[in-house]
Amino acid sequence: MNFDQWMRASLDRVETALEHYLPGTDVAPAKLHEAMRYAVLGGGKRVRPLLCHAAGELTGAGSQQLEAASAALEMIHVYSLVHDDMPAMDNDDLRRGKPTVHVQYDEATALLVGDALQSQAFVALTADNGLSAAQQASLTRELALASGSVGMAGGQAIDLESVGRKLTRPELETMHRKKTGALLRAAVRMGALCGEAPDAAAMSALDAYAAAVGLAFQVVDDILDVTADSATLGKTAGKDAKDDKPTYVSIIGLDASRELAAQLGRDAHAALAPFGPRAGRLGELADLVVNRVH
Ligand code: IPE
Ligand code: IPE
Ligand code: MG
Ligand code: MG
Ligand code: MG
Repeated sequence: MNFDQWMRASLDRVETALEHYLPGTDVAPAKLHEAMRYAVLGGGKRVRPLLCHAAGELTGAGSQQLEAASAALEMIHVYSLVHDDMPAMDNDDLRRGKPTVHVQYDEATALLVGDALQSQAFVALTADNGLSAAQQASLTRELALASGSVGMAGGQAIDLESVGRKLTRPELETMHRKKTGALLRAAVRMGALCGEAPDAAAMSALDAYAAAVGLAFQVVDDILDVTADSATLGKTAGKDAKDDKPTYVSIIGLDASRELAAQLGRDAHAALAPFGPRAGRLGELADLVVNRVH
């Protein structure tokens, strides 16, 4: 299978898994379930699920297990986007080419969509999904730590308290590693943990890969806010500068940001060296993250 075929097959499986783990609109309360499905289905690049699948293939993980882990990761990610877009945070009205949840529905619904997606992620992880009880416990812990106050939510707190303040480069890196890097890192670790438990050396190599890809992802997000248009991004371009957000572009400039993203891509490949050709998909995904245009 070439990369494009693998992507198509994996994306299909992720969509089916999300459909499976999200309550239907025939389940009460219908409006909340409709809004959750509006936020999650039929959009997004699904980078975290793809990383999860590629890492799982390295450890012989089964597809049922990877589908549950991927759905959980994407639900946490979408919850973070729904809340990130709300007026109290970034106040955006466009996401994945559609009105944001609080615009399409209302603010209270958007709050609840985020809350419920967060819970539903852990329902998926602990469902009858082929994972052993020990795997379910370790994946639950990985995802909870990555999305909580020492991970994504903590990074978002730093982001909000830093508006208009010039962060030092180490502060900026810490913020990015938490708000975006932590969940991408969890995607890789969780995918690997869905299969035969990797030894410490393999896990630390995967971790180094994931740390590089996770930071690269947000550096590129900062670049695209400046260089891409809203139609391509499916979200409002130019919003970071307008809101005086601390970003790699605002702190080190566009050229240095591009060079950093490329270097992080090389770091990601270097980390995969111990696996040889078996880690080909993860290498291709690192390139996708660095070279993406939306
Ligand atoms: C956007 O994430 C928010 C960040 C963490 C940078 P994505 O770029 O993965 O958004 P979707 O899922 O493709 O819409
Ligand atoms: C969002 O960062 C990070 C999370 C949602 C956790 P941004 O605020 O830069 O994401 P976009 O640009 O709105 O997608
Ligand atoms: Mg934000
Ligand atoms: Mg935002
Ligand atoms: Mg952004």
